[in-house]
Amino acid sequence: MNNKMNTQAIPTEAEVVARVEALMGRMSLEEKVGQLTQIAGAPFFPGPEPAEVIRQGGAGSVLWLNDTQQFNVLQKIAVEESPSKIPLLFALDVIHGYRTIFPVPLAMASSWDPSVAERAQTVAAREARAAGLHWTFGPMLDIARDARWGRIVEGAGEDPVLGAAMAAAQVRGFQGPSLGTPEHVVACAKHFAGYGAADGGRDYDPVYLPESRLRNVYFPPFQAAVKAGVGTFMSAYMDLNDVPASGNRFLLSDVLRGEWGFKGFVVSDAMAVGNLVIEGFARDGRDAALRALSAGLDMDMASGTYPQYLAGLVEDGTLKLADIETAVRRILAIKVRMGLFEQPYTDEAKLAQVVALPEHCQEARLAAQRSMVLLRNEGRLLPLSNSLTNVAVIGPLADSMEATEGSWMVFGHTPAAVTVLEGIRARLPGVKVKYAPGPEICRDIPSLFDEMMPGSNEKAVQTPEQAEAAFQEAIATAHTADVIVMVLGENANMAGEAASRASLDLPGRQEELLKAVVALGKPVVLVLLNGRPLSINWAAENVPAILEAWEPGSEGGHAIADILFGDVNPGGKLPVTFPRKASHAPLYYARDLSHQPEDSPMYRSRYWDGPTTPLYPFGYGLSYTTFSISNLKASASQVKLGGSVTVTADVTNTGSVAGDEVVQLYIHQKAGRDSRPMRELKGFERLTLQPGEVKTVPFSLGPTELGYWSTNAGKWVQDAEAFDIWVGADSLATLHVELAVTR
Ligand code: NOJ
Repeated sequence: MNNKMNTQAIPTEAEVVARVEALMGRMSLEEKVGQLTQIAGAPFFPGPEPAEVIRQGGAGSVLWLNDTQQFNVLQKIAVEESPSKIPLLFALDVIHGYRTIFPVPLAMASSWDPSVAERAQTVAAREARAAGLHWTFGPMLDIARDARWGRIVEGAGEDPVLGAAMAAAQVRGFQGPSLGTPEHVVACAKHFAGYGAADGGRDYDPVYLPESRLRNVYFPPFQAAVKAGVGTFMSAYMDLNDVPASGNRFLLSDVLRGEWGFKGFVVSDAMAVGNLVIEGFARDGRDAALRALSAGLDMDMASGTYPQYLAGLVEDGTLKLADIETAVRRILAIKVRMGLFEQPYTDEAKLAQVVALPEHCQEARLAAQRSMVLLRNEGRLLPLSNSLTNVAVIGPLADSMEATEGSWMVFGHTPAAVTVLEGIRARLPGVKVKYAPGPEICRDIPSLFDEMMPGSNEKAVQTPEQAEAAFQEAIATAHTADVIVMVLGENANMAGEAASRASLDLPGRQEELLKAVVALGKPVVLVLLNGRPLSINWAAENVPAILEAWEPGSEGGHAIADILFGDVNPGGKLPVTFPRKASHAPLYYARDLSHQPEDSPMYRSRYWDGPTTPLYPFGYGLSYTTFSISNLKASASQVKLGGSVTVTADVTNTGSVAGDEVVQLYIHQKAGRDSRPMRELKGFERLTLQPGEVKTVPFSLGPTELGYWSTNAGKWVQDAEAFDIWVGADSLATLHVELAVTR
């Protein structure tokens, strides 16, 4: 993608400071508070008329509006009628595409290819910016180890190293090489921090994380975003160790600015400043505004608490004007860097030109292909033959645009997705592909967003009689086919915000339908569309071929057909552990050892009603070819503290077709100041190999990889201790060498 349209020079730091100071000099206290205020532009959100607030200089940013014309109308009011004529930042959740929809972030992490995420967010930024948006609320960087938590779909899964790589890639994609690059937007690293560790996987519930785990596991993607130059941060909703993240000085000031040197601004999550009262932290709105601002939170998203109380807090001497001004400067600096003063408006014809680009669809299709994970392929059922003439596509998600696009398609996006049925039909021209959806699936408790937003996913619920008729029709349709593709999983509204589940089973009657279809004795391929790991234990034993397609985006149906018919060889790997049951959550590979490891002779059971092991381990995924990994070597068997070694392994494509392998390196520190996880990913590389081809993959292990934040030391340390190193194709890798770190 070219950035040739660069018409204005990126200002230097000194120029930014000078321009911000010139603006500060002419702003009243009320206008300064206005810059710290983000208002809702959505019709569903009650509040004062946005145009009037903007005219008075009462808003720095508008969210939940997705209308280019309206952006220009409001911007004109800001730059021509408001007292200091400061342009607005328009913000929206552009999470995995704007019009061209990419796989959900959990899927993109399954590619183990950061360039997939970078290119996706480059396209997303280009389309969003053409629509008039300046700022996206992404990437979402919360490590999630509990599949019940609905928002697991929005992040990169359970691992800090994979998460950090995906974080930096997404920031680069959204923002381009620097803030203010044409056709790019400001990114927002969210939700700082710990949100993914909600008690019980219940969205918004409190989080308790010791500092060692915060620093070793939950912070790395956020720090990677800072290093990649992310312009903004969003505070998380929940209590972290009894201090709400939006009033948490440790997070927002000590770590983010003090330790990491973040120079951008922090916005709260929606309503989070006002919610400090509901959370039993702030006494009232005034106290909430005081404590959020003092903690380091610059902009109030939609709660109206800053505009109501901040000026008064300064006037009565409780807050220093300088504290407010620091926050204002950070916001103005981003507006200057983004070139908003030079180009506040958007060409209303631009979006139509940009979204029509075939290269965007091509990128989305490629991203979807690279994101899919082959979970099972008994008897090499896949790839299917091109000469099939009698195929049935069965399941409630087979022709569902919503499930194909996935979560976060709200706020008036109008994509058109290629469903699995359409993708297969396009792949088999001239063949009459049969289709039956079977019984519908829906949430037991409807989604808040479906009720609130346009384009609701939730349709009228089938009666039991209608569901039974649909069930029978699906079996009858399958009965007449030679090969059956079942498309099962979750609706888009079953994962995402406020979409946690107590069960990880296939919702509704899907497993019952799957069993009935498999009982017909024909070849069955299961394609999963879902936003979280599912406990598909029966399928894992009884369905010969299973493709985890996640929520693959607007080109998803084509990408699935590309894989099912062998045009593309799947190479994705799981970025999360699949537990056998929801009650095993949180289940993740990087646990500390217990005194009775599962492979010890004394080991009995963790649960007496079933194995504790994952259904599918972290890092797992198959291919249409086979690989062997061998010849693991370290450049030295000993390394001094602070030094580095290179570890290499040979990967061979031992099958008969070209394919991708994701080679993964794990370490275990055997003793030390603290106990360390039984395995930790420290390097990975996705490679393409022709049949018979061998490649040597190098990994570097130095103080960053071999060090950690120690509870006992209360700081970052590296211990002179012995390490296990494994390299392999998933987190159960067995190829092993030892390394000694010495003084
Ligand atoms: C609430 C969500 O938690 C956050 O991720 C999102 O960016 C904001 N709402 C704005 O829509």
